[in-house]
Amino acid sequence: MYNYDIPVRRYNRNDLNEFCEKYLMSLGATEEEARITSAGVVAAASRWHPGKGQGLEKLFRLTLQLGNGGINCNAEFEVLEDSPAAALVDGHQGFGYVVAQKGSELAVEKAAKVGIGIVSIKHSNHFGQAGYHAESITKSGMIGYVMTNARAEMAPWGATEPVLATSPWGIGIPREGADPILLDMALTQSGQGMVMWAFREGQDVPDNWMLTADGAKSTNPADFLNADGSESTGTQYPIGEFKGYGLALFTDVLCGVMSGSLFGTQCFQGDVNHDVGHMIMAFNPEFFMEKKKFQERLEQLVGEIRSAKPIEGRTVYLPGELEFLTERDSNESGVPIDERSVEKLLVLAENQNISFPSEI
Ligand SMILES: NC(=O)c1ccc[n+]([C@@H]2O[C@H](COP(=O)([O-])OP(=O)(O)OC[C@H]3O[C@@H](n4cnc5c(N)ncnc54)[C@H](O)[C@@H]3O)[C@@H](O)[C@H]2O)c1
Repeated sequence: MYNYDIPVRRYNRNDLNEFCEKYLMSLGATEEEARITSAGVVAAASRWHPGKGQGLEKLFRLTLQLGNGGINCNAEFEVLEDSPAAALVDGHQGFGYVVAQKGSELAVEKAAKVGIGIVSIKHSNHFGQAGYHAESITKSGMIGYVMTNARAEMAPWGATEPVLATSPWGIGIPREGADPILLDMALTQSGQGMVMWAFREGQDVPDNWMLTADGAKSTNPADFLNADGSESTGTQYPIGEFKGYGLALFTDVLCGVMSGSLFGTQCFQGDVNHDVGHMIMAFNPEFFMEKKKFQERLEQLVGEIRSAKPIEGRTVYLPGELEFLTERDSNESGVPIDERSVEKLLVLAENQNISFPSEI
């Protein structure tokens, strides 16, 4: 769970959902688009550090894109190619959360019939948390594996210029009577948002969060940003160094090159057309073995992980566990939004004549 060493205000989750839905509909979103997108950004706000930028901060970019045609409201989810196991979809520049939800439903439908469902999506938008979509697949008892490309922020290992994205992966594994195992991660050590956050708060960062424009390491966030801290000048540091770079390349081949979306340095250019591609996969454990047997074997593995002797003073967590703990706390104590974002959200609310929820 996060310790908020930062000024946050807390809000009731339902109130935030209601606000987001009203706000998005006031900008032209359909009821369905507003509901799905709001649930996604509010879940992100309840799970992740605000510096990750996945919460209500997303409304700032959505506002821009809804105003300039970067996102189409009521976009068609068009299945271009279809087979029992695989499909190719054109998202027609719809809301990323909505396109990904429909893609996840299609993948599950296929996996229920033939054991696996693979849905390649082109012409979508930023879909937020990769793990959120993988988690939705686990609700049907299946393993979800979801990835996306995005704006180039990672340099090929050994280079100084960004070509690949932070390329998040979400991997969700369903557990009977427990939260799923949910690995939700960028293929970079950090993200621009956390570095900007540290800059703003006057904090150092670990030396493997970013590389400078010259490809050097540093712990000073100012070395990776322009003078006012609003733009990145460096590149994101791949997880596992050249290994993470290789995985990001693979991700862009699946999500960009093979889907027909933009890829590499072309992807996510400007605010008008992100043209992002996703790859959404569902695996049905029941195709491979009886459900009960799969769950018993999975719990045996979880048990072994839980009983591994911890390093002194440390706790062993399953992937996703920390975010589920944070979410429970947010549900009880209120969803945290950092004060600077609240100020900007108040302006959005006022512009659309919608009241922003009261703090709790
Ligand atoms: N759509 C996009 O373009 C985009 C790009 C980047 C990130 N994201 C999203 O941003 C969010 C944050 O990503 P991130 O990479 O910064 O996450 P992170 O580095 O904070 O966590 C990554 C994963 O590691 C797990 N983890 C962390 N500490 C752990 C521990 N001590 N023991 C066991 N597991 C642990 C977490 O549960 C999580 O599954 C995610 O939802 C991601 O999908 C989206």
